[in-house]
Amino acid sequence: MSIMSIMSKRAVSTSFKKTASMAVVVSALALGGSIAQAGTIVGSLHDMSASGTGQGTTTETEVCVFCHTPHGSDTAAKAPLWNKKLPSAATFTLYSTLGTATLDGDEAAVGSVSLACLSCHDGSQAMDAVLNAPGSGGYNAAGAKFAGVGITAMTGSPIPMLGTDLTNDHPIGIVYGAYTGGTDTASYTAESTATINGNAQYWVNGKGSTVAGREKTDMILFTRADGKPRVECASCHDPHNGPDAGVTNVFLRINNKDSDVCLSCHVK
Ligand code: HEC
Ligand code: HEC
Ligand code: HEC
Ligand code: HEC
Repeated sequence: MSIMSIMSKRAVSTSFKKTASMAVVVSALALGGSIAQAGTIVGSLHDMSASGTGQGTTTETEVCVFCHTPHGSDTAAKAPLWNKKLPSAATFTLYSTLGTATLDGDEAAVGSVSLACLSCHDGSQAMDAVLNAPGSGGYNAAGAKFAGVGITAMTGSPIPMLGTDLTNDHPIGIVYGAYTGGTDTASYTAESTATINGNAQYWVNGKGSTVAGREKTDMILFTRADGKPRVECASCHDPHNGPDAGVTNVFLRINNKDSDVCLSCHVK
């Protein structure tokens, strides 16, 4: 794809984004709600349907199907009801191979919810390559494609297509704070924990939040087999939280004004 056609796609995205955020403002006002409420995935860059704006947008009218299926999902995926084949963890170069002198925590192989994000963001497969394509009889364990659409894998390195070299991205699969085993625990906000359905869940309150329970606006931590809480893509990002009144929100769990996302975890 030429630079010009990528640029024109981005330009289209921006104009759609404005429309989408205006719609949110209008509905929020109509409901008498706060305009600071979270946005919606509909019309966002994660809406790959006809109403969407990102690369891979199609004439398909369903929104969720690009990532989720109500039946026949991949249970190996650590994202719920996942509708895509996962890339192989072995293809990625980990952040820790950069060898920075400051990294304390144990970094696991790429996995958990991050592998689900990277099933598009590594640029290895088409956005409409799913397990269960829309409509009746769309399931194919070997991978299905939407009928008559033919969209391609993500482009645009190093972002949004992160590729398989993760040395230029914030560490993921990295153990959080007090669990790093290092001596630097004072540099992190203490995490919260709760047992839900017998599973230990961990999160760090979003900057400024004093709510005791887990909320979508908290930085969610994810565990692997060893049970240690780790930072993954969805710690900082909520993939559904499209453009809201704070337009700088690139699917972040909270607005990053004053670097509030970073300062939720890092004491700096
Ligand atoms: C671009 C991919 C993508 C699309 C499209 C998408 N989701 Fe998700 N969804 C995810 C991922 C990844 C997770 C796991 C995130 C996490 O663990 O916090 C998730 C988690 C969820 C969850 C559980 C956690 C939560 O945030 O409530 C629900 C419910 C959900 N999705 C519903 C939907 C619905 C409904 C749609 C369509 C309107 C949709 N999703 C579209 C990627 C997507
Ligand atoms: C089904 C494919 C797919 C999956 C899975 C997916 N994304 Fe995306 N993502 C996209 C597309 C398409 C875009 C738009 C790229 C463009 O046109 O700039 C995008 C854009 C983004 C952006 C940039 C938004 C902006 O406003 O610039 C972020 C952030 C992002 N994704 C994070 C994630 C995270 C985190 C996950 C997992 C929780 C995830 N994505 C999973 C397809 C996907
Ligand atoms: C520690 C927090 C954090 C983690 C973990 C994280 N991100 Fe992000 N990401 C951000 C922030 C903050 C931004 C916004 C940067 C900006 O405003 O320029 C962002 C931006 C992005 C963008 C859009 C970049 C742009 O400038 O257009 C994409 C795509 C993205 N992230 C995908 C991912 C994926 C996929 C993962 C996991 C492999 C991930 N992120 C992990 C914090 C994070
Ligand atoms: C969910 C919690 C969390 C959030 C949010 C977060 N970080 Fe981190 N960050 C970590 C953890 C954990 C490490 C690994 C620390 C270690 O093991 O030494 C880390 C490491 C780093 C490092 C050091 C890497 C190294 O090689 O030593 C930098 C720099 C950094 N983060 C910057 C940021 C920035 C900038 C933001 C906001 C865009 C951010 N972080 C958001 C948890 C977080």
